[in-house]
Amino acid sequence: MSRLAPLGNCHRALRRCWHPVARSSEVTDRPVRVRLLGEAWVLVRIEGTLRAFLDRCPHRLAPLSIGCSQGDTLACAYHGWRFDGAGRCVEIPALGTGAPIPSRARLEAPHGVEERHGMVFLAPEAPLAPIGDVPEAEDASFIAGDLPVLSARASAGLLADNFLDMAHFPFVHAATFGAEDPVVPPLTVSREPWSFVAVNEHEFVNREDPGVAAGIRPLVQRRRVTYRVVAPFHLVLRLDFLDAGGSNVIGFFLQPESDESCRVYSTIWRDDLDGDPGRMAAAVAFELAVVEEDLAIQQAYEDLSLPLDMTAEIHTKADRSTVELRRLLTDLVITAESAPRRDADRRTAGRAAMAGPAV
Ligand code: FES
Ligand SMILES: [Fe+2]
Repeated sequence: MSRLAPLGNCHRALRRCWHPVARSSEVTDRPVRVRLLGEAWVLVRIEGTLRAFLDRCPHRLAPLSIGCSQGDTLACAYHGWRFDGAGRCVEIPALGTGAPIPSRARLEAPHGVEERHGMVFLAPEAPLAPIGDVPEAEDASFIAGDLPVLSARASAGLLADNFLDMAHFPFVHAATFGAEDPVVPPLTVSREPWSFVAVNEHEFVNREDPGVAAGIRPLVQRRRVTYRVVAPFHLVLRLDFLDAGGSNVIGFFLQPESDESCRVYSTIWRDDLDGDPGRMAAAVAFELAVVEEDLAIQQAYEDLSLPLDMTAEIHTKADRSTVELRRLLTDLVITAESAPRRDADRRTAGRAAMAGPAV
């Protein structure tokens, strides 16, 4: 069997997946450009409904993101062509009112665009995996804190790998976590077709617990760690504090923008802060410092891709969760490359039909 190529940010298989492309709050009735897998898309709310199109007007290929919404249409800034919510051109000012509109004058839409957990997700082609679920986001006992969206020269695959990796804590996070036991407790992994869960329980130093200072609980306490992963890059870490009570849930959703850049959307959900905004702000600042420590490592990589050939790296028992990530993404690549690509076929056929101008 031939060896699989590494997974770069613009791998074709990633077209068959949902990706975060913006926070919901970033998308208004003013068009905004986002980048995904090396392509530019425009997002806009037309009369309140979220729409996404390739950021390219079919007339002279100007970016639609410099246009504007006008009533129930998106208008191109260059020659004023207007497109309805389905992407059909409904007006060409240079032809005057009532002139026939060329049938090919329509915008290219992705397979899907949806909003979930305060983010906009886009799937260029029919997705194989669902959008990663975060039940805590809908649970009224949790409060949410968003980290600022981070942009980095990084590989989404390597960032996902880093999020799941527990062996780096004492080396990369000494300034934030403090001294940690370097031994990684065994993880139990349960796999579904397009997701997996990895769990372990261990002792840790609970510096956040007010019960420690009050002498109610010891400094070293028990914690359950649960990683939830949905392909390709929807990751959630849930920390359950088994002695002090409460949970800290960290969402980590990655947008592979181009071969060399990623955006990172991270939100934390807590049910142990008594709804206190000051404690949540401190928790967000702590998590941001942790992510920046990770990015310092990730941005130093020369090769921005995740190896899928299992002989390209050395794997140990301490790497159980990151091995499963490689298996999951390998299955994604193999399935995407063997399954029919209906959207892509349709797009290719559409381009072939552009034989010549009827003017
Ligand atoms: S390029 Fe958009 S209307 Fe001409
Ligand atoms: Fe880390």
